[in-house]
Amino acid sequence: MDAEATLSSTLQPQIIDYEGSQYRTEFWEGQGREYENLVERLAIQRLLPPTGDILLEAGAGFGRLADLYAGYRRVILMDYSFSLLQEARMLWGDDERFVFVAASIYEMPFASSLVDALVMVRVMHHLQAPDLALGEIARVLQGGKVFLLEYANKRNLKAIARYMLRRQRWNPFRREPYEFVPLNFDFHPAWMTERLRRSGLVPERELAISSFRLAALKRRVSPERLARLDNALAGLGAKVKLSPSILVKCRNQKREMSVAPLSTKGFFRCPACAAVELEHRAEVVVCRQCHRAWPIVDGVYDFRNVSRETPSA
Ligand SMILES: C[S@@+](CC[C@H](N)C(=O)[O-])C[C@H]1O[C@@H](n2cnc3c(N)ncnc32)[C@H](O)[C@@H]1O
Repeated sequence: MDAEATLSSTLQPQIIDYEGSQYRTEFWEGQGREYENLVERLAIQRLLPPTGDILLEAGAGFGRLADLYAGYRRVILMDYSFSLLQEARMLWGDDERFVFVAASIYEMPFASSLVDALVMVRVMHHLQAPDLALGEIARVLQGGKVFLLEYANKRNLKAIARYMLRRQRWNPFRREPYEFVPLNFDFHPAWMTERLRRSGLVPERELAISSFRLAALKRRVSPERLARLDNALAGLGAKVKLSPSILVKCRNQKREMSVAPLSTKGFFRCPACAAVELEHRAEVVVCRQCHRAWPIVDGVYDFRNVSRETPSA
């Protein structure tokens, strides 16, 4: 399918299904990706402000990166997969700073300007409607604050070489995203930069990471050493952006610099009617405007089942 058509489509974008997936054990643990994990962690540590008030990780999965947020007073781990959030809760649930929220990036259940740092890693490549997601990100992030985005770069060295050698038909130099399997997209850096800017998320610094994602190299050099080398070259590499993954630090210039009053009405925003007056009851959060009751199941706030119908009071 034409990826540009898919991407620009739909007010109701499809969401990839990670429910019940063994993402932690089948993709990370014991799967030979120590280098990739280390590289991402080093890069995030370089670009993320080390301290702050409320940090949101969008598409946080099982909370792989959550220890990097130790300097934040409150950490929201949000994902569409309830089962992955349960795993995150097993790992981080004892730490009172953490809040676990099941919701879509396209309709985040948070008050505008709530968070002062937002991280999204290994998620953008699943998003069918990036503009919608970036709009939501700009909404919930305070003005002047940092959005850290990792995305998959279609114009990477391997793709260029394969294209030149006619081993691959799709053109890595074309700007439109490439959907290599359904709901998996690679992005051209120029396209992504333009979309970020359009959303008011202005790129400030970039790192080109995971440049040594080659089995032969990974067999010979330890993950720590390879990750250190990658980290040393990541800034320089960002000038040409030939790596398979890019981490970009953006500043939100869309929203006004003043910070919304967090304590008054709140933290959550009803994803069905956008009201910010929600009342905490025993096992639900109830919207005072549309009366939707959003369940809290095993310590996870569940805002996924959005319907615009107004239940009777
Ligand atoms: C490849 S995993 C990455 C998880 C985590 N960021 C990490 O790097 O370990 C992608 C995650 O994005 C989540 N996701 C994809 N689309 C989403 C959406 N529209 N809203 C919320 N989460 C989404 C998936 O459920 C999954 O947990």
